[in-house]
Amino acid sequence: MGAAARVAALRRELERHNHAYYVLDAPTIPDAEYDQLFRELQALETEHPQLISPDSPTQRVGGKPLPEFSPVRHAVPMLSIRTETDTEPSGARAFDARVRRELGLGDADAAVEYAAELKFDGLAINLRYEHGVLVRAATRGDGETGEDVTQNIRTVHRIPLRLHDCAPPVLEVRGEVFMSRPDFERYNEKQRALGRATLVNPRNGAAGSIRQLDPAMAAERPLSFYAYGLGEVRGWALPASHSAVLDALAECGVPVCEHRAVAQGADGLITFYARIREKRDVLPFDIDGVVYKVNSLALQQRLGFVTREPRWAVAHKYPAEEALTTVEAIELQVGRTGAITPVARLAPVFVGGVTVTNATLHNEGEARRKDVRVGDTVIVRRAGDVIPEVVSVVMERRPMKDLFMSPAAPETVSLAGGGEPLHPPFALPKTCPVCRSAVERPEDEAIARCTGGLFCPAQRKGALLHFAGRRAMDIEGLGDKLVEQLVDNAIVKTPADLYKLGLLAMANLERMAEKSASNILAAIEKSKTTTLARFIFALGIRNVGEATAKDLARHFGNLDAVMAADVDRLQQVPDVGPIVAASIARFFAEPHNVEVIEQLRAAGVNWPDGAPSAVANSPIAGKTFVLTGTLPALTRDEAKDMIEALGGKVAGSVSKKTDYVVAGAEAGSKLDKAQALGVTILDETQFRELISS
Ligand code: IVH
Repeated sequence: MGAAARVAALRRELERHNHAYYVLDAPTIPDAEYDQLFRELQALETEHPQLISPDSPTQRVGGKPLPEFSPVRHAVPMLSIRTETDTEPSGARAFDARVRRELGLGDADAAVEYAAELKFDGLAINLRYEHGVLVRAATRGDGETGEDVTQNIRTVHRIPLRLHDCAPPVLEVRGEVFMSRPDFERYNEKQRALGRATLVNPRNGAAGSIRQLDPAMAAERPLSFYAYGLGEVRGWALPASHSAVLDALAECGVPVCEHRAVAQGADGLITFYARIREKRDVLPFDIDGVVYKVNSLALQQRLGFVTREPRWAVAHKYPAEEALTTVEAIELQVGRTGAITPVARLAPVFVGGVTVTNATLHNEGEARRKDVRVGDTVIVRRAGDVIPEVVSVVMERRPMKDLFMSPAAPETVSLAGGGEPLHPPFALPKTCPVCRSAVERPEDEAIARCTGGLFCPAQRKGALLHFAGRRAMDIEGLGDKLVEQLVDNAIVKTPADLYKLGLLAMANLERMAEKSASNILAAIEKSKTTTLARFIFALGIRNVGEATAKDLARHFGNLDAVMAADVDRLQQVPDVGPIVAASIARFFAEPHNVEVIEQLRAAGVNWPDGAPSAVANSPIAGKTFVLTGTLPALTRDEAKDMIEALGGKVAGSVSKKTDYVVAGAEAGSKLDKAQALGVTILDETQFRELISS
């Protein structure tokens, strides 16, 4: 095969996998194999630069920063849609009535057919394909002229650089570029951990990313795209309806949202509106409404436009998930690990179906960046089941010190401007608001922490709740309220004190009936018999979650061995790196912690010890296995038990992280994948040799 033919074949194949991965969400090959094909293409293109073309998958990244965006005149203007703000069914009826009137339909005429779809909340983009290849992407701008954002759009993997089996002279696809909620949260979490600025909301994320002059920066922000219409079209057989246009675009490999329907008349629209409203919270992206369009393109043409809005379409909004309220106070929450989180206490406000009274400000950096102050009017937002947050401050309404401040009404809003804000910017105190210990923030971290440890009542409460948690010591009935009272009355200082509680002390607590007191004491007694993994997890060592606790228990077999291990020995445990090892060593180096552990053991907390050496010396400790096909002598469960008994893990699918695949007769795609990834493949005999070595 000549270089040109190989390059073309590689591009087709890579684009096919890309589509499967990003659009269909059904990967067809392992990442490593994709990378290999990609590198082969890159090498060929380096060797034969004349073969590089804009639709090559290698061209998605790597553009140079621009000094500015060039203007692009739209061949067909990009319009907007009229918005219906009546969020009742009457909103849909009003639109249908208008359409029927314009079309001259009477009561006896049939229902009008509509295409109903979601109103995406991002940035409108026009994608121009010439002979099937993406040649230009532009923002809407003023509708007549937009900005050339082709470089940035290329970084959006869901947007095809070449249409599938579809190459008309001109096909302009219009749609919305947006950021999904999970992508937004992940991005912000990463930024927060690095102490960098976060995105205010997914829409700003999308807009900011597309309007970024450096495509490398744009590529860092994961974006999605859904098509909702067409621009200029030449040489493409136009279907008769809008829904058929979207079907045809999907056939060409363009992402089209599955949440759409063809609806008959106003009743059909109302049903769609209600159905999407139910799903709104579980959609992975934000919408602020739905869009109704007359389905027949012929009827659309008959209806035409008023100014810049088509008569055949409307956006029907949902009640807002954002609302205005005021900040009554900014309080600090101290968590189990001492992390200090500023929380805005708000005047109660109804948002997206619930009453919100507080919103997280995440950390000092965010609180200062948003510049939230007491007395401010703020926009709060709630999406799905996430914690409500303050989006931004309405600066015009910030209470100012009036130059002629009346002592009777100090919070007068100064309209004259130029005054000074009534309240200072948020600042984290130098000492813990609960225990007055010093507050520390490592330079490279966003989170400030109280250094008081278990001396701090807030950390103590958190530690006790964690200790008693369902996945830790599982003490039923020991919840927030009770822990609060036990700590505030100095009845319980450490987890060990829980096991010294008597009926008298418990029953004397406020609102505590004797019956429930004895139930809790019984639950505490029952918790004494536990497992080593639960006990280690319950200690609340920083960076030691449930999985690490299990690994530690399995590796060392008994608590004394864990406590005695230095960082090197700790790092021999699968998945324990230097940071986790240091946390563990630090915890056990603290005499106070050791003392509490001794008290717990003395109080009768116990667990069966495991056999450390078998696991610690096991050749497969920490290795990941995948079982496939039928083994000659072992059942799948038997093989799994053997692996786990020796500290190995069994996974369901093959990935780069798989160490061994044990394959028997009629092994299927897992075996193929293992071969493709170069994972060691064993038959039953080899497997037995390995585990007995
Ligand atoms: S159709 C002629 N459909 O809303 C109609 N627009 O004000 C052109 N939008 O700028 C737009 N989802 O960015 C249409 N399913 C959808 C949409 C949608 C979101 C945005 C689009 C446009 C604005 C209209």
